[in-house]
Amino acid sequence: MMNAVPPLAGLCTYEQAGVAGRSVDETVRLLRRLARIERRTLLAMAAHLNAVPEWEVKCALSLHLWQDAEHCAALRERVAEMRKPPHYLDRPDDEALEAFFEELLRSGSTRELLTGVYRVLKPRVIEAIREHRARANPLADQPTIRLLRSLVAEEEEQVEWGAAALAALAGPDDDWGRHLEAYLDAAGGAAGDGERTGELPPPRAVAPLELVRVPRRDDRFTRLWDSRGRGFFDDDAERSTAEVNWRLMYVRLTEMHVPELLALILYEWPDATFEQHRALARHLWDEARHAMMGEVYFQAHDVDWCSVPHELSFASYPNTQLEPRERYALLYGVEHGAMRKDGKRAQHEAAQASGDPLPTLFQDFDWADEVLHVHIGRRVLTEAYASTKELDDAAAETRAAYDRIVASDRALPRSDWWDEFYGGIAAPSSSSP
Ligand SMILES: [Fe+2]
Ligand SMILES: [Fe+2]
Ligand SMILES: [Fe+2]
Repeated sequence: MMNAVPPLAGLCTYEQAGVAGRSVDETVRLLRRLARIERRTLLAMAAHLNAVPEWEVKCALSLHLWQDAEHCAALRERVAEMRKPPHYLDRPDDEALEAFFEELLRSGSTRELLTGVYRVLKPRVIEAIREHRARANPLADQPTIRLLRSLVAEEEEQVEWGAAALAALAGPDDDWGRHLEAYLDAAGGAAGDGERTGELPPPRAVAPLELVRVPRRDDRFTRLWDSRGRGFFDDDAERSTAEVNWRLMYVRLTEMHVPELLALILYEWPDATFEQHRALARHLWDEARHAMMGEVYFQAHDVDWCSVPHELSFASYPNTQLEPRERYALLYGVEHGAMRKDGKRAQHEAAQASGDPLPTLFQDFDWADEVLHVHIGRRVLTEAYASTKELDDAAAETRAAYDRIVASDRALPRSDWWDEFYGGIAAPSSSSP
C-alpha cells in the first residue's frame, strides 16, 4: 500500500511494538532507583558548591543540580502513576548505593568531584537509561520513554561539560575514579542489576562529612571582601544612567554568594521533603544565572569581572553562624524587601531609562525571578516557623547581624574603589590614539 498514514501514532513499527518488554514492576524498580540517584547527586553537588574554587564550575554545578532535581521530580511523578502505592519514594533501599554516595561526598578537590559525578556516575546512569529504553515496549510504556528521552539529553550535555572541564583541569583523577567505580560496582551499577562483585577499597567515609562553609574562589579573584565597598551605593541620583547600569550589573555579578548560601541551606535543611529540595535547587540556579548575567555584561564591555571586589559575607556569615532556617529567613527578608517600589521594579526602570537593552532585559528577568523566590521562600519557611512573627523576627535579627559585618568592612579605607573603577570604564581612551 502506497502512502499509508503512519500507524501507532508514529511511535514505532508493528515489529517494535510486538515484542514484550520490561514489566510495570521492573520499570518502577528502575525509576525509583534513578530518582534516588538524582536526588543524592544533587545533594553532593550542593555540598561542594562552596568548596570548589572555580567560578565556572560553580555555575555548571548550579545548573546541573537543578536539572537533577527536575529529573528526580519527573521520575517520582511517573512512579506514582504506575499502580503500586505505597511508593516509598524517600526510602533508601540499597545500602551499597548509599555507600557509593557517601564516598562521592568525600571528594576532596574539584577534580575528584568532577571525576566522580561526570566520569564515573553519570555515564553509568546514561547507560542504564539506554538499556531500559531498548527493552521497554515503545507503545505500552510510551510515557516513561518520553520522560527518559529528555532526561538523558540533559545528562549527556552535563557529561559533555564535565569532560571539557576535566580536560581543562589536568584531566580526571584516575585513582579516585577507580575507588568510586569499585563502590558503584558493589551496588550493581547505576541500575542495580549488575553482578555485585569485587573487593572494596577502604572507605573515606569513616567520620561525618566536614563541609567547606566559607566560599572559595580561584586565584583570579583578588579582592574577596565582606562588603561591596562604599560610595556609589548611596547617591544614585547624582550618577548617570550608564553608571547606574554598571552598578546594577556589578551587583548581579557578585550575587554568587547567594547560590553559595542556598547550597548549604539545601544540603543541611533538616528532614527536607523532596519538594523543598526542588524549590531550593530552583532558587539556587536562578541566583547563579543572575551572577552570570553580570558576568556577561562585564565580558561584553571587555571589563575584568574577577578582580572587582566580590562580597562573600552573605554566604560565609550564615553558613558558619546560623541554622538552615535562619539562613533562609535572612535571604527571604532581603528578597521580600526588594518587592517594595524602590526595589526590583525601580532597578528595571533604571536600566530602561538608560536605553541599553541588555541590562534592561537582565533586570526584567531578575525581577521576575525574585517574585518567584519570595513565593518559594514563603512556602518553605511557613513550614519551618510557627508564625509569621517568628519568621519576621528571625529575618530582622539575622539581617542586623549581617549589616554589622558589612558596615565594618565598608569602614576600611580600601572600600573607596568604585570611582576609580568606573572612571576607567567611562574614559578608557587614554592609551588609544
Ligand atoms: Fe539528572
Ligand atoms: Fe538574585
Ligand atoms: Fe533571588
